[in-house]
Amino acid sequence: MFWFIENDKWGECVTAISDLQKGGSGLFVLLDENTRKYCLPRLIQRMKLPAGYKVLEIPPGESYKTLETAMTLWARLLASGADRQSVLINLGGGVICDMGGFVASVYQRGIRFFHIPTTLLAQVDASIGGKTGVDFFGYKNQLGLFSKAEGVIIDPGFLETLGGDQFRSGWGEVVKMALVMDEGLWGEIRERGTGIGERGTGNGEQGSGIGELGTGNGERGSGIGEVIRRVAELKMSVVERDYRETGLRKILNFGHTVGHALETLYLEKGRALLHGDAVAAGIVCESILSVKAGLLSRDIFEDIREYMAGHFPAIHYTLEEIPKLTDIMRHDKKNRGGNILFTLLSAIGKGETDQAVSGEQLTSSLTEYLTSF
Ligand SMILES: NC(=O)c1ccc[n+]([C@@H]2O[C@H](COP(=O)([O-])OP(=O)(O)OC[C@H]3O[C@@H](n4cnc5c(N)ncnc54)[C@H](O)[C@@H]3O)[C@@H](O)[C@H]2O)c1
Repeated sequence: MFWFIENDKWGECVTAISDLQKGGSGLFVLLDENTRKYCLPRLIQRMKLPAGYKVLEIPPGESYKTLETAMTLWARLLASGADRQSVLINLGGGVICDMGGFVASVYQRGIRFFHIPTTLLAQVDASIGGKTGVDFFGYKNQLGLFSKAEGVIIDPGFLETLGGDQFRSGWGEVVKMALVMDEGLWGEIRERGTGIGERGTGNGEQGSGIGELGTGNGERGSGIGEVIRRVAELKMSVVERDYRETGLRKILNFGHTVGHALETLYLEKGRALLHGDAVAAGIVCESILSVKAGLLSRDIFEDIREYMAGHFPAIHYTLEEIPKLTDIMRHDKKNRGGNILFTLLSAIGKGETDQAVSGEQLTSSLTEYLTSF
């Protein structure tokens, strides 16, 4: 089930969760320090949680998306008497959704879970499509399973407390979706131009809000709520047709092969890098690759580059680190037969999956990013 909350209409999803809970043995809410502070009060206000629900809190951030954290959560579920009728609500960003989905799916061979995504990135992407998991040995999402949430509740109201950097990070996935699937949305993004850029100040302060962008009750494209709904629906339409990523779903990996390699490099160096910023850099590098592969025109690439440069930070790596990055990409789950496979662009709104590129093309694209961005 999927609920997109407008005008605070939580009724139907509250009923669905409490129906599941009837005669059940425990409701657990997984959250992190920030979502406890900023999102739990809203959840409690919107939804009457049953007495005796238990909160499972983990520290915020990608560095806790690990098997060790999962183990502590399984231990806590066990100690709290959770059984197969228990229900887990994942209240947070992509880390909480990925981790919570994984923990719930493995505990006692699977308990039911709901996602209530609270970042833009999680609302348009991470909460949809059943991918759950944790990072392992420094590699992103190496352990996990496909497992569907019982329901996903998207309430843009949660974004009111989201910092500007986090908002920009989610916007990276919005841009990706437009580039691979929706030329019209790209046009709107280009026109809107400022809306998000003004938010990307890099200071990560809380409370910058979505007020300036509206809450999505206006006409298409005028409010962030409507953009979220549109991108979430695009993702759902892909996932419905190719849940296990054997074909069409690979289209969503545009920007992610390079993006994940950058995230892995930064994780290794102990430096923070937001997922959407890594994906944004990946979008630029993989657009360069698309040009080098003869798929995309330089003019379209320039249009993409200009937008990305105006709205996302340059991600730093050195020329000496390029072999390391290509090496990380060789470990990517999506590769086959020793080839690094990419989703590239042939036009705005048109992704091309399973494109093998040479090591030389990859190295020169990563080099060009450093000089052109
Ligand atoms: N499963 C998928 O299909 C999928 C898709 C894309 C990304 N991901 C994963 O998602 C993760 C990134 O997700 P993310 O960007 O949401 O990061 P995140 O979950 O770390 O959240 C970012 C930060 O925002 C805070 N936060 C969350 N909601 C808030 C709110 N409403 N107000 C204030 N602060 C809030 C969090 O505590 C955290 O510090 C990565 O691990 C990535 O691999 C998964």
